[in-house]
Amino acid sequence: MPEQVIVLGGGIIGLSCAFEAAQRGAHVTVVEPHEFGGQASGAAAGMLAPYTENPEQPDPFFHLCAASLRLYPEWLRHIESISGLNAELMNTGSLTVAMHESDLLPLQTRLAWQQAYGLRAELVEGSSLRLLEPSLSPAVTAALFCPDESHVYAPHLVQALEAACRRMGVKLISHAGAITLPGLNGQYGVQVKTAEAGTFTGDRLVVCAGAWACKYAEAFGFPIPIHPIRGQICAFDVPVRDVRHMVFSSQAYWVGKNNGTLVCGASEDVAGYDTSVTERGIERLVRFGPRLLPLLEGLRPIHSWAGLRPATRDGWPLIGPLPGRPDIILAAGHYRNGILLSPVTAAIVADLLTGRKPDGPIAAFAPDRFAGTAARRGVS
Ligand code: GLY
Repeated sequence: MPEQVIVLGGGIIGLSCAFEAAQRGAHVTVVEPHEFGGQASGAAAGMLAPYTENPEQPDPFFHLCAASLRLYPEWLRHIESISGLNAELMNTGSLTVAMHESDLLPLQTRLAWQQAYGLRAELVEGSSLRLLEPSLSPAVTAALFCPDESHVYAPHLVQALEAACRRMGVKLISHAGAITLPGLNGQYGVQVKTAEAGTFTGDRLVVCAGAWACKYAEAFGFPIPIHPIRGQICAFDVPVRDVRHMVFSSQAYWVGKNNGTLVCGASEDVAGYDTSVTERGIERLVRFGPRLLPLLEGLRPIHSWAGLRPATRDGWPLIGPLPGRPDIILAAGHYRNGILLSPVTAAIVADLLTGRKPDGPIAAFAPDRFAGTAARRGVS
């Protein structure tokens, strides 16, 4: 393990990578331009839903998501025990609903391959569905039930990770302001210059800057095709027992939190780095809700906010070393699944830092996969 690892970005991916690297003996510094978890991580609904988020086929991304879900309970217990904080894992299961005949076919297709793959999933209809989730409208004719999907309270997970990192001796530098990376040319060793917190030097750099990772493309002389996709989200004052499961539809999702709110998300807008909420974005969620969940009729959100998902061209993250720079590892572009993918990303990054072969294949996530060359280095 190299002596000094600098992690750029204090979102959930950056903090997770820092925690894992510190556990394996590295001296780690996390440098965050603003506050920890202040971007996509803090805005997320916290869903751990690899089966719902991957409806098409068991491709490498599905395997990555499923592997991360398997790691989650133990990983979280460890973070919670070191930090003394609770990230509120709720094993609610999920329901993806069908309201029309045309909604059913995709659910049946998904059920077929997910069951063949050995996942627990079933199609629930009629009175069985009412019994399972009494809050659903009679207009919902069927739902695909995934009992193994769950969710965490993302802001608390960020706090727990932050505290766990501190306990492990990780240096956490927030509000560092604008960051530049001088002196990367042609030599190993990294230098991170910040506007507000001084300059940091290290042996290795891990770039976990989410939607901002593309800003470092020029410094690396390497394209980082990540762009922000805004997610507008809101919360209603609805006791958690009133909606027992995570509910997904083609238009929105609803997740009941322990704090007595029902979180409803999320738009997918191209709005650059603008994190404001728009009336149109939130109204679409508000209007759609009562069609599935009659208890939302007439309710207004008590809170609305937005985050920027880091999207790549194929929706899969970029995880791996930069071509020709094994000392610089990219872990960004987790798009809709940053909370879910934290443990597996951290494990892969820590493996790469220690020269260990990651447990699963990671070539599909190589940062240079869009270059269309056979020059993928260092990952297999
Ligand atoms: N993971 C759900 C979302 O990005 O809205």
